[in-house]
Amino acid sequence: MGKKMKRKNAGKKGRFNICVIGAGYVGLVVASCFAKLKNKVICVDSNQEKVKLLKQSKIPNFEPGLPAIIRDAVKKKRLSFTTSISEAVKKSDIIFIAVGTPPRKDGEADLSAVENVARTIAQSLDSYKLIVEKSTVPVQTGIEIKKTILRYTSKRNKDFDVASNPEFLREGKAIDDFLYPDRIVIGVETKRAEKILKKLYEPIKAPVLVTDINTAEIIKHASNSFLATKISFINAVARVCEEAGADVRKVAEGIGMDARIGRRFLDAGIGFGGSCFPKDVEAFIGISKKLGYRFNLLEEVKNINISQRRHLVSKIKEELWIIKDKNIAVLGVSFKPDTDDVRESPSIDIINYLLEEGAKVRVSDPKALSKASELLKGAHFCKDPYIAVKNADCLILATEWKEFAELDFRRIKRLMRYPFIADGRNFLDRDKLRRAGFKYIGIGR
Ligand code: NAD
Ligand code: UGA
Repeated sequence: MGKKMKRKNAGKKGRFNICVIGAGYVGLVVASCFAKLKNKVICVDSNQEKVKLLKQSKIPNFEPGLPAIIRDAVKKKRLSFTTSISEAVKKSDIIFIAVGTPPRKDGEADLSAVENVARTIAQSLDSYKLIVEKSTVPVQTGIEIKKTILRYTSKRNKDFDVASNPEFLREGKAIDDFLYPDRIVIGVETKRAEKILKKLYEPIKAPVLVTDINTAEIIKHASNSFLATKISFINAVARVCEEAGADVRKVAEGIGMDARIGRRFLDAGIGFGGSCFPKDVEAFIGISKKLGYRFNLLEEVKNINISQRRHLVSKIKEELWIIKDKNIAVLGVSFKPDTDDVRESPSIDIINYLLEEGAKVRVSDPKALSKASELLKGAHFCKDPYIAVKNADCLILATEWKEFAELDFRRIKRLMRYPFIADGRNFLDRDKLRRAGFKYIGIGR
């Protein structure tokens, strides 16, 4: 079905009172899109500062298209914000848990926010509620949520279901991914829960897969781990290409033409980052181990991924010999374009390696400088990429923002002390840059 047709179908009448707990990258999108689909939504966050901003229609994260949807939903009185879970739960039929599940030091998912929310929900139950995990969680978390609610709710209020409804949206494309998904996965224990979720998602035209809760939870971890595996696979192939004098981009095109493989998620580079792939691969390894299986394949996916960051730095060293006192411009610090999210960004690691070696690093990014400045000590931040590249001995392209492809590279060549580009995403036009007199290196070509 074409996008236009799909767009027409999204937006039929919804009829639910919904509460979304967690107003982060996922929660805000889920809350505002359900409101767009004509449900009445209360979005809850324990971060008072965040809720204060949201109440003033100020959006804490950069996500294309999101501010307009939020403003419209608030204006139509379909979306509101609060810090009180119990107030929101009491007014809702369906409760989505979308709080963070960050990695603990041992790699396992930290589920303390999920548990905390489950306890508060338990104390606020006053009629039948459907409690849905949206956060990405290890298999068997649904069982624990149910046990927790039973433990903390009063004897009178045991009328609830727990379900799993994993989210597959990508940052930067979150609105479209939510409204026009490839599939909707619903993990349920009862027909009642299945019926409610199917009804809720009726306006979205996508195949619905109904499973039990454990299976839905594994679908989420396995999806992210598989995509991460694809990326590490092509990065490993890239290393062989470099040794053999082949071009990984053509290899990706060639293998991707096989419909069984597919071209997507085969872009070699400095590896995957973000708050999801690294965390979810780690958590999937962790829960598998707990259940008695050593997921060595995913251990290697992780190793390959991390090695790509060092690999780019060693390629730069091959060219510059000594890093100390070199001026290095890094274009892109978000973990991918169209987001201000810098969590687990490969760019941050690369900048830290360079700083450790004594380089002077200037960083430019269209949206992520403020978040990056909280994490990076010692780098200089430049809004203007032309200032970042001034007198540079090397320009690293770390995030493929379209703004960077549109730069005036003749001007950049004049500004740099040595016109050397290390393209960590195989994003720029190599041949054009070489013709213009740059020394250009990419990944796997
Ligand atoms: P986030 O850190 O951006 O947002 C989480 C929010 O939850 C924060 O605003 C935090 O203040 C709030 N919170 C924490 N504890 C709370 C509590 N006790 N009560 C109320 N609010 C609380 O995280 P995110 O990126 O939105 O991810 C949320 C979950 O969704 C994670 O499990 C993640 O793996 C999953 N997920 C994320 C994405 C993505 O693209 N970011 C996509 C799919 C799934
Ligand atoms: C990813 C998944 O794509 C979503 O389906 C999922 O919902 C989400 O994680 C999640 O669970 O949170 P996201 O992290 O927003 O979404 O971004 P992606 O577009 O998947 O990119 C992840 C990382 O992989 C980025 O650093 C990107 O640069 C890298 N990547 C991606 C590559 O290195 N090569 C590729 O070919 C594709």
